[in-house]
Amino acid sequence: MNIEAAVIELMKRNRRKIGGHQFTVPSADLHSFQWLWDSCFHAIILSHFDLKAAKRELQSVVTHPLPSGMFPHMINWRAEAVEEDDDGELPNWGREARGDEINAAWKQRGSSTLTQPPLVAMVTLRVYEVDKDLEFLRPLYGSLRQHYAYLAVERTFGTDSLVYLINPEESGEDNSPRFDTALNLKPEHTADENRLKRLALIAKNAECNLAARDCLSSYFGVADVVFNVLYAEDLVAMAKIAHLLGYPEESAEYASHAAAVQCDIMEKLRSRDVFLSYDHLAKKPLEVLTWNIFMPLYGGFLTPQEAEMLVTTYLRDEKYFMTPCGLTSTAKTEPTYNPNDHLWRGPIWFAPQWFIYHGLVRYGFTNEAAEIKEKLVRLIEQSGFRECYHPETGIGMGATDFTWGGLILDMK
Ligand code: GLC
Repeated sequence: MNIEAAVIELMKRNRRKIGGHQFTVPSADLHSFQWLWDSCFHAIILSHFDLKAAKRELQSVVTHPLPSGMFPHMINWRAEAVEEDDDGELPNWGREARGDEINAAWKQRGSSTLTQPPLVAMVTLRVYEVDKDLEFLRPLYGSLRQHYAYLAVERTFGTDSLVYLINPEESGEDNSPRFDTALNLKPEHTADENRLKRLALIAKNAECNLAARDCLSSYFGVADVVFNVLYAEDLVAMAKIAHLLGYPEESAEYASHAAAVQCDIMEKLRSRDVFLSYDHLAKKPLEVLTWNIFMPLYGGFLTPQEAEMLVTTYLRDEKYFMTPCGLTSTAKTEPTYNPNDHLWRGPIWFAPQWFIYHGLVRYGFTNEAAEIKEKLVRLIEQSGFRECYHPETGIGMGATDFTWGGLILDMK
């Protein structure tokens, strides 16, 4: 199988053009919208063979900021392209969460009222670096600035510089068991129970008039490891972008802000031998082992000795995450581990493997990185491009023709 050709074909098939904008849907069957972190992955994938499309993907994902400046996690382009009576086709995130704000946002503004992990500045910089096109960078900078200003002000719940999620959905890992206790869910519960809790928080968000810090923080607030590691990386990217565009003071501000976030990640998210997400309401770490514990490798938060210990204890040892098909999303040692869940309680997802791969390469674990890549190639050959995969059998699960497998082009 020629994987590169298959990825190019898949990305073409999932490409959409609406009102002069272009973007890629993660999957035509289940996820036919534009999604924030998916579009960042798409831009990375596209930058390997179609730089113009990569730029357009980023240009379109910044078009629907909320009045606060926040980039929403879903853009419903069809809201602009279809008539009102198409209501029946709107997905659950708009329809089930009653409340005028949500419906107004989804139907009229065409966006959700949540965000997703911040990768957009880092990816914008990466795409810029391919051809050093300042005219691509310049118009994006203003929207990026507003999004990061929103996160810095509205999403800092504590006395630290960390940013807090207002819904597990914002982690990109909808039903990850690390959020169970923060949602007041027992380890054993149905997918629907989990989903209803997340939708209830969306309704609360509307009741709060989208005020995260002063209102929603009383109901849910998690300083997530992945989100904050990416946030720190994005602030560094913002410092570089500001510098390139000739704004030295703004550049210095982003650099010092990034340093403060890095310090707080080290101080607050480090828990014994691993980094864990922190529950703002319970005032304690969320003690569930998920693939998040490898994120400090990606972000460079460990000494070489600590990295060796993490890799030996949790990555090489098949007791925790390693399977014949790749690394599970939740550790096999967790009582909540479920390889048959179609979401984040066990199955293998491509984006986490991509982060872990780069973290391993960063610390010189080239054999482990190569092993992960080989397993992913085999998964694509066996089951095609799927949303996630069963960790023991490699059978594809969830959406079909799912784009994240294209990240294989960025593992070299
Ligand atoms: C699923 C994933 C989420 C992704 C979305 C669109 O909900 O959990 O991370 O952004 O699908 O692909």
